[in-house]
Amino acid sequence: MTEHTPKKLFIKTYGCQMNVYDSDRMADALAPHGYEPVQVMEDADLVVLNTCHIREKASEKVFSELGRLRQLREERRALGQDLMIGVAGCVAQAEGDEIVRRAPAVDLVFGPQSYHRLPELIARAHNGAKVVNTDFPEEDKFEHLPAARKEVTLARGLTAFLTVQEGCDKFCSFCVVPYTRGSEVSRPVEQVLREAQNLAEAGVRELTLLGQNVNAYHGLDARGRSVGLGELCARLAEIPGIARIRYTTSHPLDMTDELLEAHRDLDALMPYLHLPIQAGSDRILKAMNRRHTRAEYMRVIERIMAARPDMAMSGDFIVGFPGETDADFEETMQVVRDVGYASAYTFKYSIRPGTPGASMADQVAEPVKAERLKRLNDQINTQMHAFHRSVVGRTLPVLIEKPGRQPGQIGGRSPYLQAVHMEGPARLIGQIIPVEIVEARNNSLIGKIVTVGEPNPASVIESQAIAAHI
Ligand code: 5AD
Ligand code: SF4
Repeated sequence: MTEHTPKKLFIKTYGCQMNVYDSDRMADALAPHGYEPVQVMEDADLVVLNTCHIREKASEKVFSELGRLRQLREERRALGQDLMIGVAGCVAQAEGDEIVRRAPAVDLVFGPQSYHRLPELIARAHNGAKVVNTDFPEEDKFEHLPAARKEVTLARGLTAFLTVQEGCDKFCSFCVVPYTRGSEVSRPVEQVLREAQNLAEAGVRELTLLGQNVNAYHGLDARGRSVGLGELCARLAEIPGIARIRYTTSHPLDMTDELLEAHRDLDALMPYLHLPIQAGSDRILKAMNRRHTRAEYMRVIERIMAARPDMAMSGDFIVGFPGETDADFEETMQVVRDVGYASAYTFKYSIRPGTPGASMADQVAEPVKAERLKRLNDQINTQMHAFHRSVVGRTLPVLIEKPGRQPGQIGGRSPYLQAVHMEGPARLIGQIIPVEIVEARNNSLIGKIVTVGEPNPASVIESQAIAAHI
């Protein structure tokens, strides 16, 4: 392979937003080596599956996809062509060599800490070697990754993910993350600011800061001082063009006063917070090694509401953790009502080999999990619709992100991350404008533009003025 042969790349992303971010950065790492992204797998010379190991279903999906890819490669070879197959992400990290054993068609396997080495790994695989690289290398991958070209960034949208922290030290007893992603590492402040600056210069208006435990962020600044997430958000909000900041996902114990003050003081920090509790019963929280009780979590919620009274809450829940009784589950239902979540992700407990939960007695039967999940989902859907209805009649600042499905329509998001559709000209894309919410649909809102200013490059100020009005 020469540097100049155009090659076609298809990355299929499973799992969380951190994988979405990683997939984009892999594409950025390969772009200078002549790899161009294609929309369908069948057109690609290199297919990478960027995998998720969090639940059994997620990791099993990878192996069925690998079966299909093997077939695709055989068809290619019959035509005298070839296809390279890579497996990245958390399944790669967790299973390493085992993947090549189970799916011999795979050419290379690499973990979340080695994708900056992708060009070199591909070159080795081209020479016929099976390449497995799941090291946690000494060097910082972020220092070795090229920035995306402006047009590439913009094509990905006006909202961007930015990983600021990786790994987790909490060791919840159900979770593989501390094993697959390793211990907590925060990116240095200046490195994050530089990346955000590049995104803003390309036209990005909203950042979602990512980390497995993002509110534990403690990156070093240029003077070697440790900076928390609140201060990082304040620094990011100063970048011209960055109008909105979100972050996910957080642990209740890391909701520091510094971060809450940022929620109180920073207009750019959006009033929508994903803060998982996982379960409502103290007995189950203890077995989960969450390190907090339900009352302690509720106290955190009170502090959040005091700092930002209009905060909309979101969370994660696991039903059917080992030993969970009907009474324990009722406490989860109660916490859902007490917090009044505007949305939540819900999961049936899935045994993850190597985690303490896997060897616990009293595993809950599948039908019981299914029934609890359904009740929980019904409750959360009811609350989500009620939350959507509660904003009807209000005027919200909406970041216009893209054209709508019909001509003459545009779509964007409210501060509470609700999708809003409305009639309007495409020239408003990229602006934050006041929109009256006239109707709540199942998963989105219908709005009417209140006033339309001319495109205004200084609309950060405009957005802050709007936010101050609601
Ligand atoms: N089974 C079910 N859900 C899980 N999660 C993490 N591990 C498991 C598991 N073993 C859920 C948690 C976490 C989210 C990302 O995935 O709710 O917050
Ligand atoms: Fe997993 Fe989150 Fe618990 Fe860390 S805090 S172990 S990532 S569930």
